[in-house]
Amino acid sequence: MSALLAALYDDHIRVQRTRTDAALQACGFDSLAIFAGRPPMQFLDDRPYPFAPNPHFKLWVPLETCAECWLIYRPQAPLQLLFFQPIDYWYKPPALPSGYWTKHFDIEVIREPGDARAFLAGMKHCAFIGERQPEFDAWGFAAFNPQALIDHLHFDRARKTSYEVECMRRAAQRGARGHVAAERAFRAGASEFQIHLEYLRATQHTEAELPYDNIIALNENAAVLHYQYQERTPPPQRFSLLIDAGAAFAGYACDITRTYSAEQDDFAALISAMDTVQQALCAKVRAGVDYADIHLDAHHRIATVLREHGIIRMDPASAVESGLSSVFFPHGVGHLLGLQVHDVAGLAIDRKGTQKPRPPGHPYLRLTRTLEPGFVVTIEPGLYFIETLLAQARAAKHASSIDWQRVDALKRFGGIRIEDDVACTESEPENLTRPALAQAAAA
Ligand code: GLY
Ligand code: MN
Ligand code: MN
Repeated sequence: MSALLAALYDDHIRVQRTRTDAALQACGFDSLAIFAGRPPMQFLDDRPYPFAPNPHFKLWVPLETCAECWLIYRPQAPLQLLFFQPIDYWYKPPALPSGYWTKHFDIEVIREPGDARAFLAGMKHCAFIGERQPEFDAWGFAAFNPQALIDHLHFDRARKTSYEVECMRRAAQRGARGHVAAERAFRAGASEFQIHLEYLRATQHTEAELPYDNIIALNENAAVLHYQYQERTPPPQRFSLLIDAGAAFAGYACDITRTYSAEQDDFAALISAMDTVQQALCAKVRAGVDYADIHLDAHHRIATVLREHGIIRMDPASAVESGLSSVFFPHGVGHLLGLQVHDVAGLAIDRKGTQKPRPPGHPYLRLTRTLEPGFVVTIEPGLYFIETLLAQARAAKHASSIDWQRVDALKRFGGIRIEDDVACTESEPENLTRPALAQAAAA
């Protein structure tokens, strides 16, 4: 398996070099210094906040422990990795890197953060990308985080290499193990917190390693899109679970959501209808498709479900047109996925960062680009009973088009979201999530 990664990584580096050479040339730089980052310290304390490495660094270097490391890039020269390995007895210094990727780098060990300066001193017209620290001002960089260079590099990041897609397959396998364990814990009557612990155990992730904070919502908490708490005790009655939880492999994320009903009831039927919608939308992830059209199609399909399940009385086209569908589905149908969960340049239509606007009335859509082979996107339609949005609808022109008795009966379930990660290819879309879940469930 690691022979496969090694081969794919070779090509990944070749692609990144070609892209970076073009970006540097277009923006008038000769070289690039990427700083992995420095853990920020808590106010008046000696504890750092959790460290999140610079994604530009992660694109090249799949190092888990990389604070104070640098990647130095010069066209046609060997890649240079400045590896920070302090002499320390308070904390365990990171081990020297090993694995499928290291042969591509000249690795220089630095013992102090300031030791990097000597390696950067001779760089001609060098662009810096990373979190700027005060001392770097005197280090002779030509520019800090030049927007034109970042826009150029971000635009290209949407097209994943085969290596990146393989990393995301593996992240999906890891996340799938967590989701299977989480469903089991839910069915056994666990609290949100216990489900969270089961998820961590099954993925073998620490909380800090998760690509985003787990969303583990029982009952009406599922109506909060980014629900952030974990109740320590199970609710007196268990109706539903919405779990949106990811995992990582070599810096790449998966982003998976599942919703379960405790019983074979009305809500279970609604979940099943939403699953059919979700799979139809996944099938649309094809080269040449405008992602905004998938989002608008999601609204039409969800409006149809709402009507067929007696929640609204309006025909689907009018429900979308009037904004009624947004009362129940108030977020975008998905986003680019990669090194960042909400990956970069979802609205960019060229390397200059020109943005393609969202369709009017859809302010939260994160991706408006036309899909290309190599894009990995999430498809995550939702249907929620959100008190604040329902209160507005009750006071607005929509009120008579909603069956309020039906809504009141379903509110205790919170809502539904079903989210898969899908790779756009030259032909059929590849769903990274479903095979991983099937495999984890069978294990
Ligand atoms: N987990 C955040 C999202 O689905 O976008
Ligand atoms: Mn998502
Ligand atoms: Mn998600």
